Amino acid sequence: LSRVCWSRKRRAKEPPLVKGWPFFGVILEYGKNPLGFLQSAQQKNGDIFTCQLVGKYFTFVTDPFSFSAVMRQGKNLDFHKFAMGFSQRVFGHTDFTSPLLSESYRDVHSLFRQTLQGPPLQQLSQNMLGNLQTAFQQCLSSENRWKEEGLQCFTTRIMFEAGFVTLFGKKAGLLQPEGMGAVGSCMQKVKRDFLAFDGAFPVLAAGVPIALCRRAWRAREALAKGLLHRELHHRMCISDLIQRRMDAFDRMHLNETEKARTHVCMLWASQANTLPAAFWSLYYTLRNPEAFAAALKEVDLILAQLPNDKPICLSKEQLESMTVLESIIKEALRLSSASIMIRVASDDFILTLDSGQQAAIRKGDYIALYPRLIHLDPDIYPNPLEFKYDRFLDEEGQRQSQFFKNGRQLKHYLVPFGSGASECPGRFFAMNEIKQFLLLALWHYDLQLSEPHDTLSPDRTRAGLGILPPSQDVLLRYRARADRYTE
Ligand code: HEM
Repeated sequence: LSRVCWSRKRRAKEPPLVKGWPFFGVILEYGKNPLGFLQSAQQKNGDIFTCQLVGKYFTFVTDPFSFSAVMRQGKNLDFHKFAMGFSQRVFGHTDFTSPLLSESYRDVHSLFRQTLQGPPLQQLSQNMLGNLQTAFQQCLSSENRWKEEGLQCFTTRIMFEAGFVTLFGKKAGLLQPEGMGAVGSCMQKVKRDFLAFDGAFPVLAAGVPIALCRRAWRAREALAKGLLHRELHHRMCISDLIQRRMDAFDRMHLNETEKARTHVCMLWASQANTLPAAFWSLYYTLRNPEAFAAALKEVDLILAQLPNDKPICLSKEQLESMTVLESIIKEALRLSSASIMIRVASDDFILTLDSGQQAAIRKGDYIALYPRLIHLDPDIYPNPLEFKYDRFLDEEGQRQSQFFKNGRQLKHYLVPFGSGASECPGRFFAMNEIKQFLLLALWHYDLQLSEPHDTLSPDRTRAGLGILPPSQDVLLRYRARADRYTE
């Protein structure tokens, strides 16, 4: 009940308290426009301030130079408690923080590092490239007619199927790709369920129990049914990550539904941000003639070196050498990322900011970092709302990683994947798969936006949840690339 106090008094050394309605606090102003609200609160209160959001107190640290000071507070600021509580509520899996399971869960967690980095990452990316080619192949026809489809539909169809099959394998004994025939309609259903479940995320994040969101609940349970271990045992080429998670959950003696719901959680983590990130990357490439020309040149240069009668296979070095595609993806992430990094104070303590300012933090309060404030800061990125495909390239076309604010170099200038304890373990795979998607799209197709001059805004209702999807789809025209497919 102490959390639900009606008028909290600011104590000595505590950050300024932004006043709002009893209990609900500033949720209305924040919900309408998180970035605008935080920018104006920052102007009034400085680099750190506290506000109430539906009964909980959040202390926002807005100074990018103080991000490291927050990350270093591993002892006083807990990430897993908040993340696990949320995940358990939304996905309905076991409480892995319970004394009985927390030890084994640490091993499960360490599988991310073991399977999503280093040599295993190369294998995973290679499989993804193969699966992307299969997905692209299905809509290539030899006749050179233009097709029309929503760009978001196109991206989601290809990336979802390839990503799903790469992690969870393909149905054993079937020669045709998953996207075709009866198996294809099965994949369509999985994609529909995923999108229905994902669509309810803003409501679920706001605290509405999933039992009240019937459609999302049914979709989640349908996804879990398809990911029961007895179903997964019939699939071939399951990724190391999923296979080893299955083995670990079997050893932990969880019940079958709980194991499957944990796989739904992994499916969501692997797709929910990647799909909109791939969308924006292709969208900005197609809207911006300079970006398009530079990307096409890079793609053609790489692929012209490969034999054209075999499936495309790229080495780690070739993937890494595509700095133009990488800069395009980073710029798309900068413009569309709206994740919040949240920690819970496990004790009363004093947080010292980069400036030396000290702030008293209360046990149980949340500390929040909102990287979008950095990503759209005009001192760091001139004309921050403009897409500049080469923002992350230097004069030689190599990676640009030096960004400054007030003449000081920043460590945290691009944080779409989080940082510290909550840094995304799939970030290298995500960058690779989006690069591969762009590469294949530009290699196989002539692509055009039907209305290239219309502007598209992101769906702000998902602020705080990661990469913002577009508020609506846009029409794409595409056909097999004339210079590659004429007889
Ligand atoms: C966590 C971003 C793709 C697996 C996170 C977090 C962010 C993020 C911001 C931290 C969330 C938090 O603070 O609560 C992204 C973005 C992606 C992407 C922007 C694509 C552009 C992926 C992919 C995978 C993945 C492809 C797996 C193959 C995970 C997992 C976690 C996570 C498992 C939870 C880690 C933990 O519990 O410690 N991601 N992600 N992500 N991501 Fe990603």
